[in-house]
Amino acid sequence: MSRLQFAPDGQLRHLLSIDGFKPAQIHALLDRAEGLRSSTGGARKLPLLRGKTVVSLFFENSTRTRTTFELAASRLSADVVTLDVASSSTKKGESLLDTLAALEAMNCDLFVVRHAASGAAEFFARHAAAGVSVLNAGDGRHAHPTQALLDMFTIRQHKGADFGQLRVAIVGDLLHSRVARSDIQALSVLGVGELRLVGPRALLPDAFADFGASLYGDLDLALKDCDVVIMLRLQRERMRGAFLPSEGEYYRRYGLSESRLKLAKPDCIVMHPGPMNRGVEIASSVADGPNSVIQEQVSNGLAVRMAVMATVLGARTVQP
Ligand code: CP
Repeated sequence: MSRLQFAPDGQLRHLLSIDGFKPAQIHALLDRAEGLRSSTGGARKLPLLRGKTVVSLFFENSTRTRTTFELAASRLSADVVTLDVASSSTKKGESLLDTLAALEAMNCDLFVVRHAASGAAEFFARHAAAGVSVLNAGDGRHAHPTQALLDMFTIRQHKGADFGQLRVAIVGDLLHSRVARSDIQALSVLGVGELRLVGPRALLPDAFADFGASLYGDLDLALKDCDVVIMLRLQRERMRGAFLPSEGEYYRRYGLSESRLKLAKPDCIVMHPGPMNRGVEIASSVADGPNSVIQEQVSNGLAVRMAVMATVLGARTVQP
């Protein structure tokens, strides 16, 4: 997949996953996001993507990702087209390839794709015309690379660029989470000091240990001295059958309460990609409390998505 993402000269052509990224490439995107955030503070527009057309193709629900992608394209002066999938010709049986071809015939430059099927964004990228880019906005349980980049941006903002100093815990439904997969890859590329993956056994794939992570069944043990805790939602929509006795039991064992958070370092940041299930994986007092950076994650998504779009479309300078 990394050969599909990067052109032979190393230029990012599509963003489908964190596969094949080097630390410097991630930091360069985050640096660019930082620059764009200061240039567009107060919602000022930049002309970087003037004349380009961005199509937002969300076959699955979204609030944060879709809105920040569309806002980001608009802040960079692109024309933005949102395909209303529910009323589109896909509902008459049109294939993904025919949908892609029809949109390409309108000279679109960039597709932002969310789909319930793992691999859908890669499928689009493999069939896209030369010069057309595809960004994965979340495909099944496979990957959510811009979420991982905005999470790394948020961690770097609070904890600095030396990820080797950090102890990070990711807690919850790791089995069904594309955010977890992409965060684990990104943290591993950036050389995180210690990565703890925490959850019920049925939701904690052994394969994640390949990234040098430690697997924990006990949240209290795993939280000890953490610098960063990333909480995940139970992805009921991707579960077939019962993985858990009840949500109440889940909260008692894996919910992040104020008293549990005290086991982490006092300046530990609490993250969540959203949407949250308050009272299931996280207490409201923690989600809205002083350690939470959950709202910052959403704001950072805008800057990171601007950086990714400007990069894949080859807009090389941040203009004043
Ligand atoms: N984090 C995330 O993907 O949220 P949305 O589903 O609201 O886009």
